Amino acid sequence: MMRTMGMGPPMGSAEDVTDSQALWRSLERAQLVGTRAKKSELHMSAPPHGKITEILHQPITVNGYTGLAIIKQNYGGPDVSIDNVESDRAKYLKAVTVMYKREAGYDPENKDWFWAKYTPDGGLDVMEKMGMNIKLAGRVAKGKQEGCIFCHQNAPGGDFVFLIDTQAR
Ligand code: HEC
Repeated sequence: MMRTMGMGPPMGSAEDVTDSQALWRSLERAQLVGTRAKKSELHMSAPPHGKITEILHQPITVNGYTGLAIIKQNYGGPDVSIDNVESDRAKYLKAVTVMYKREAGYDPENKDWFWAKYTPDGGLDVMEKMGMNIKLAGRVAKGKQEGCIFCHQNAPGGDFVFLIDTQAR
C-alpha cells in the first residue's frame, strides 16, 4: 500500500470514504446536495467539470468541526443547455464535486482541502488506475500530475479556489 507521510494513502481509504459519507449527510441537511438542494445560477463551464455547473458554498459542520464547503453540481448529457437543466436538474446531474476545508494539518501543503467527487445519489466516483478502482475522496490526488489538487493549485490567490474569494469570508 502506498503511504504518504505515515498517514496512509492520500485518497480513497476506508477513512476517506467514511468522511465523504458524513460530509454528504451534512450537505444534505443543509440542502446543498440531494433532491432538496437549493438552486443557484447556472453557468457554462469546461472539462473536466460538467458543461453546465452550479456552485453553492457555506460553512458546514461535520463531526463537530466547521469548515467552508464548496459544492459544484456538474450537469451534462447530449441535449444539455441552461434552459433544459433549469427545467429538470435531476435529469442532467452527472456528478457533484466538493471541496471541504478540513482542520489545520489535514493537508497543510494544499490548504487542508478535502476533495470528493460524488455520483448524484451521494456515492463516490472512481478512477481506474492499474486495474484498481480508486474512490475519489480525500487528498485527491496528492503528489500526482493530475487530479483535483494538481489542477486547482493554479487557482489565483493560492487558495486552490477559482471562482470564490475565500478571503472574503
Ligand atoms: C483540469 C483541471 C481541474 C481538475 C482536474 C479539477 N478541477 Fe475543479 N475546477 C477547475 C476550474 C477551472 C474551476 C473553475 C471554473 C469552472 O467552474 O469550470 C473549478 C471549480 C471547482 C469547484 C468550485 C470552486 C472553485 O474552485 O471555483 C469545485 C468545488 C471543484 N472544482 C472541485 C473539484 C474536485 C473535487 C475535483 C477532483 C475530483 C476537481 N475539481 C478537479 C478545474 C479543475
